Amino acid sequence: MRDVAVIGVGITKFGELWDKSFRQLIAEAGSQAIIDSGISGKEIDALYVGSMSAGRFVGQEHVGALVADASGFSQMHIPSIRVESACASGGLAVRQGYFSVASGMNDIVVIGGIEKMTDVVGTEASNILATGLDQEWEAFFGATFPGIYAMIATRHMHDFGTTREQLAQVAVKNHANGALNPYAQFKREMKLESILNAPMVASPLGMLDCSPVSDGAATLILCAAEKAKKYTDKPVKIIGSGQASDTLPLHGRNDICTFESTTYAARMAYKQANIEPSKIDVAEVHDCFTIAEILAIEDLGFVKKGDGGKAIDNKITTLDGKIPINPSGGLKAKGHPVGATGVAQIAEIVLQLRGEADKRQVKDAKIGLTHNVGASGASCVVNILEAM
Ligand code: COA
Repeated sequence: MRDVAVIGVGITKFGELWDKSFRQLIAEAGSQAIIDSGISGKEIDALYVGSMSAGRFVGQEHVGALVADASGFSQMHIPSIRVESACASGGLAVRQGYFSVASGMNDIVVIGGIEKMTDVVGTEASNILATGLDQEWEAFFGATFPGIYAMIATRHMHDFGTTREQLAQVAVKNHANGALNPYAQFKREMKLESILNAPMVASPLGMLDCSPVSDGAATLILCAAEKAKKYTDKPVKIIGSGQASDTLPLHGRNDICTFESTTYAARMAYKQANIEPSKIDVAEVHDCFTIAEILAIEDLGFVKKGDGGKAIDNKITTLDGKIPINPSGGLKAKGHPVGATGVAQIAEIVLQLRGEADKRQVKDAKIGLTHNVGASGASCVVNILEAM
């Protein structure tokens, strides 16, 4: 295996983008990444695109071919592959593209992630998202994502004394970070009282404990590390990548407060990178609900199991804390166009490691981690990156 670097990133604004189509969004993010990397379109060997459910959200399948066409590559006939792993589709697309360059098969690949979720009404969006849960055991009986994560939150509160306020403080922090991010869906700070008093979605999670329904796209250019300096002074190397799975329904798990897909994927990535969790300077984690960030920082080894709530109280996850989490605003404030999320997380870490994250820059960030979860933890991808 050879080393692989990210040499370019592109990201659209996230939000309710009713004036832009699916194909416009991916073309916009793609052209930004190509300009950022300085490559020419002729040098691209393959495209990988993460998208969870374009067929249901916008009635469009055959996403690989569509993206090649919309990006102007159809006449070059280069391979274009769609990757799906529910909300981890983007992270997995990166991992597949990474393998193709690491193996020597390709030198330069473009990774895209996209979802356009707001063209359907809210209840339909919930139904489509619930296709990532177990249809026979969960969704058929009315389970939704907020419902499933609410059960996890209730158990975490029971087992570890995590409080409603600690959950809400995750949202306060991520909204504060999102307010500094020009790409974020919600560029506004939120007070603790607003989060606590928001309409209840699934107890104990209120509306402001949830990530929103979003449109958006993100892209990366991956290149063989030995050739990366030809294009950029600031390549960022992928030093570890892990992926793992778990039971699709929650009831099959040993412990619903631990996502073993995260612990296994993280172990794989840390081993490849040859580092401990304490070496990570900044992380973008999958905070689809406030409880999910608490689980993530525990399962990634940043704090002990059960201490995720206290970590929020102790402010170790703020921008200037010991381990800044979700400087972009996370899924909570930046938005969560599901197929785009895993790619956008890496775009944010690349900006952080290049020192280009402006007002949300984490000081002296050298090593960053991304954590992208599929549905309620049945799949997970963890990537670790380092400035070269
Ligand atoms: N965070 C902050 N603000 C939100 C929000 C959220 N999650 N969801 C909606 N809003 C805002 C909207 O921008 C809108 O503000 P405006 O009136 O200023 O325009 C207002 O709240 C009402 O929005 P609306 O779209 O009517 O909300 P809704 O009740 O239909 O949806 C949720 C709210 C929480 C149910 C919805 O966002 C949701 O289902 N989130 C979870 C998505 C999910 O499961 N993703 C996959 C996870 S793995």
